[in-house]
Amino acid sequence: MKIIYGVIGDPVEHSLSPIMHQASFETLDLDCTYHAFHVKPDDLESAIKGAEALGMGGLNITIPHKEQATRIASPDSLAESIGAINTISFSEGIRGYNTDGYGALRALTESNVKIKNREVLVLGAGGAARAIVFTLDGEGAYLTIANRTKGKATKLAREVGGIGMGLEDMRPQDADIIINTTPVGMHPNTNETLLTRADINSDQVVFDIVYNPIQTRLLREAEAVGATTIDGVKMLVHQGAESERIWLDIEPPTIEMEKAVRSALRGRK
Ligand code: ATR
Repeated sequence: MKIIYGVIGDPVEHSLSPIMHQASFETLDLDCTYHAFHVKPDDLESAIKGAEALGMGGLNITIPHKEQATRIASPDSLAESIGAINTISFSEGIRGYNTDGYGALRALTESNVKIKNREVLVLGAGGAARAIVFTLDGEGAYLTIANRTKGKATKLAREVGGIGMGLEDMRPQDADIIINTTPVGMHPNTNETLLTRADINSDQVVFDIVYNPIQTRLLREAEAVGATTIDGVKMLVHQGAESERIWLDIEPPTIEMEKAVRSALRGRK
């Protein structure tokens, strides 16, 4: 009997997770299937408990449920620090994990970017930023967080012993690695960017977690000065791959997963 996996979100119809995980299951010839489920906030608890009762293999949790889901699934210590989960396993009760930061870490290390003792500037202080900041802190990065709402940046920075500030005070030239975790530049506002080429130099790594469009204005600006660029597809693939490791204890075919996501995104234009 097929084992069913899925993502719960609201909205969820544009999720690339079904295409990505199906590509993995097919490549590995696993008798598993993956679907998107549109669940309203009031139904989150019954949906998660129902998924367990139905014998589903596991779930991904996406916007706007990632924080609320920590009250339903018991989070591991990283997910608890972050305050959000994106993965649920049912193998030992209902357990919650957050693989977003790990996805970002793998996106960086796959491009041979070293993290330890490097100056990392994180733009934004929302859920995605929290996952990335806690994960990179564990890898020995020096973290600076710049956010539109300064108080959120200083609060997050305090949690990891980093520096927090408003966007207007940031000094991007001082960073080795710059990571955009805000939706600035995301479709349909594709001409927006928090930094231009004047702020970036060729020794830097610029990583944008936005994946629609794949090449954001920020990445175009970075490329124009010869900086190393990493796009958001990489993080999407690696957070998904880590979910599969948790559910299935297998090594996911990330190259096939990435191909499926890139081709779906190209088809959407
Ligand atoms: P996610 O879960 O994707 O991280 P989020 O928790 O809503 O989403 O966080 C979005 C982040 O992007 C926040 O840091 C937000 O800044 P505020 O804390 O000031 O709200 C930031 N952000 C969103 N739109 C922005 C914009 N137009 N300019 C700058 N920052 C923006």
